[in-house]
Amino acid sequence: MSQLPVTFDSLAIEHAGSPVSLRKKTVTALDEGEVLVRVDHASINKMDPGLAQRNLFQLPEPYVLGFDFSGEVVEVGTGAGASFAVGDQVFGGAERGGCFAEMAVVTAARIHKRGALPAAEASTYGVAFLTAYESLVIAADVRKDAGKWIYVAGAGGGVGHFAAQIARLYGLKVIASAGKADSLRLLHDLKLDAVIDYSKQDVVAEVMRLTGGKGAELVYDSTYSQSSFERSAACVAAGGEYIRLGTPLQLQRVEAGDVTAVVEARGAKMVIGDLGRYQVDPQFEARMPEVMEGLQRAIDWYEQGKLRPVITQTVPFEAAALQTAFVDFLRGTNNVGKVVVKCRRDG
Ligand SMILES: NC(=O)c1ccc[n+]([C@@H]2O[C@H](COP(=O)([O-])OP(=O)(O)OC[C@H]3O[C@@H](n4cnc5c(N)ncnc54)[C@H](OP(=O)(O)O)[C@@H]3O)[C@@H](O)[C@H]2O)c1
Repeated sequence: MSQLPVTFDSLAIEHAGSPVSLRKKTVTALDEGEVLVRVDHASINKMDPGLAQRNLFQLPEPYVLGFDFSGEVVEVGTGAGASFAVGDQVFGGAERGGCFAEMAVVTAARIHKRGALPAAEASTYGVAFLTAYESLVIAADVRKDAGKWIYVAGAGGGVGHFAAQIARLYGLKVIASAGKADSLRLLHDLKLDAVIDYSKQDVVAEVMRLTGGKGAELVYDSTYSQSSFERSAACVAAGGEYIRLGTPLQLQRVEAGDVTAVVEARGAKMVIGDLGRYQVDPQFEARMPEVMEGLQRAIDWYEQGKLRPVITQTVPFEAAALQTAFVDFLRGTNNVGKVVVKCRRDG
C-alpha cells in the first residue's frame, strides 16, 4: 500500500539567510528511480551552513538541507524496485538535500544497503567519506602508493579524517595536521604516523624532517584555505602528487588562490578531487558507479575495524539546535570529525 501523499516535519530554511525553522513538508509522488526513506540520522557537511546563508544551488524556497543520511526505505519509485524494497536499511547521499527531515526523497543510484554499519555512523559516508574516497582512490589512485609518505591537511575535519584513514589502509605513511585541540586529539587517537599542530609548529619544516628532507610524495589538502594550500604546496616532494579538493570555481568562492604553479615548479603534479562533478559533468557522471563502490568498501572496512567515522556531536531534531550547530560550524568551533543530526524521534 502506497504511503503517498505523506506529510512530515522538516528543519527548513525559509529564505537564504533566515534561521532554521520547523516546517511541514509534503511528498505527493516519486519520480523514476527515486526512493522515499524515513531518515534515521543525517550528517552536517560544511556546505550546509554555507547554503543556509547563500542558496548557491538555487533550491526552491523554503528548502531543507542535509546531503547524506541513513534511514529505512518506505516507498520505492518505478525503476528502483530491482535494487531496493520497503523496509531496507540504507545510507548514502541526496544530491538536492532534504535529509534534515523525518523523510527524504533520494535517488536509488546514490544509496546502498547499510549492512553492519550503525545508523548514526552510516549517515556520515554519503558526502565526507565519498569525497575522500573519490579524491584518493579514484582521482589519485593511492592503491599504487603503499610505503610512501602522505601529508593530509585538515585531517581532523569530516573529509580529512576519512582521507587519513583511507591512506593508511592502502599502506601509506600518514602525516596529519590540525589546529584545534579537539582536532589534534582526534588525530592522536587515530594513531597515525605523525601529527602536526599547524597553529604552533612549522608544518613545512616538520614534514621535511619526517621525510628525510625530500617532502611527502603525496599531499592531500581539503581545507579550502589559502594559508594551508601554500604550506601544503611547499611540502610536496619532487615527482610527487598534490591532491587538492575543489574546482577552480569553488576556490574562487572562498577566495583561495591556485597553487598549481608552485606545485609544478617543485616537479610535482596537481590532481583535482571533486565529488560535485559527478552530478554535472556527463564524463564523470558515467563513472559514478565506481565512486559508489566506495560505500561497499566502507561497510567492509568498518566490519574489519579498519576505518570508522568519528562522531563528536549528535544534534537533536530541533530547529534551534541545528541553527546553533550551523553557527558553530561557520565559526569553526564544532567541525571535528563528524557532527550528526538524529532525525528519527521514535527510536
Ligand atoms: N568539492 C567537493 O566535492 C567537496 C565535497 C565535500 C566537502 N567539500 C569542501 O571541503 C571542505 C572541507 O570539508 P569538511 O567537511 O572536511 O569540513 P570541516 O569538517 O570543517 O573540516 C575542515 C578542516 O580544515 C581545517 N582547517 C581550517 N582552516 C585551516 C587552515 N588555515 N589550515 C589548516 N587546516 C585548516 C580544520 O581543522 P582545525 O579546526 O583543527 O584547524 C578542519 O578540520 C569544505 O570547504 C567543504 O565545503 C568539497
